[in-house]
Amino acid sequence: MNELMSVEGISKTYTGNGRKIAALQGVSLHIGEGECLGIVGESGSGKSTLGRLLLALERPDEGDIRFQGVSLTGLKGKALRTMRQHIQVVFQDPTASLNGRLPIWRSVMEPLDNFPSVIPPFLADTRKSRRETAAKLLEMVGLHQDYVERYPHELSGGQRQRVAIARGISLNPKLLICDEPTSSLDVSVQAQILKLLKSLQVKLGMSYLFISHDITAVRMISNRIIVMKEGQIVDRFQSDQITSEDRHAYTRLLISAAG
Ligand SMILES: Nc1ncnc2c1ncn2[C@@H]1O[C@H](COP(=O)(O)OP(=O)(O)OP(=O)(O)O)[C@@H](O)[C@H]1O
Ligand SMILES: [Mg+2]
Repeated sequence: MNELMSVEGISKTYTGNGRKIAALQGVSLHIGEGECLGIVGESGSGKSTLGRLLLALERPDEGDIRFQGVSLTGLKGKALRTMRQHIQVVFQDPTASLNGRLPIWRSVMEPLDNFPSVIPPFLADTRKSRRETAAKLLEMVGLHQDYVERYPHELSGGQRQRVAIARGISLNPKLLICDEPTSSLDVSVQAQILKLLKSLQVKLGMSYLFISHDITAVRMISNRIIVMKEGQIVDRFQSDQITSEDRHAYTRLLISAAG
C-alpha cells in the first residue's frame, strides 16, 4: 500500500491556566492510500489535537508531518491552500459546522466556491451550476435534492451530518479526517452514517483518519486501529486483531467498557 500521510515524532504542548498540557508526545504513524485508520482513546487523549495538526490548522512543536512526501509544517500561502484541497474534515457537531442562516446548498458549495478550478470527476456534468452541483452532492450522501433550499434547523441531526459529509467530499479529497462524526447522533442513526462513510470511502478511493472515543464505531469502519492515552500511542493493530492476546491492557479495558 502506498503511503499517503506520515507522521514522525510529533509533540504538541498547550498552556492552560498557567499549566503545561502535553496534548501529544512523540506520536508517529502513517496512513496508506485507500486505508481507514481508526484513532480511539478517552476524552483528552489528544485525538482532536492530532486531527488539527494533520489538517495543518496548527503546527507541531516537534516532529514532522508529510503528505505525499511533502512536509506540511513549512507550507505557506498557495502551497498550503493546494494541500488543503486534498485533506478535508467532518467534525462531530454538524450544527456548529453549518451556517444556520444559509440554505443547505450554499453550505455544501463553500469548499468548491473556494476552489473554482477544481472539477471532481463525479461533478463533471454539474459543475457549471452551483445548485445542480449541490443537488448531486446531496444525492451522493443519500439526501433528496429538494433539501438544497432548506435551512439546517429544518433537518434532523443525521441529515445535517450528511450535509457536512457532502461538503467534506466535495473537493474529492485524498484524505478525509472524521473527528467523532457519529458521536452526536442516536445509535440507530450512527450505524447509517458509518455505512455511508464506508461506501463513500470505497467509491471515491479516499483514505480516512477516523477519530472516536467509541471503539465499536472505530472497529466497524477501520482497517487499522491506533489506541491513544494521555497524548501517546499505547497500542496499534489490524482491526481483525482486536481480540488478540497481544492487545494492550488499556485496549482491553476500552473493549470491556464498550460491552
Ligand atoms: N487550544 C487548547 N488550549 C489548551 N489546552 C488544549 C487545547 N486543545 C487541547 N487542549 C488540551 O489537550 C489535551 C488533548 O485534547 P484533545 O482535544 O486533543 O483530546 P481528545 O482526545 O480529542 O478529547 P475528546 O474525546 O474529549 O474530544 C486535553 O488535555 C485538552 O484539554
Ligand atoms: Mg476530540
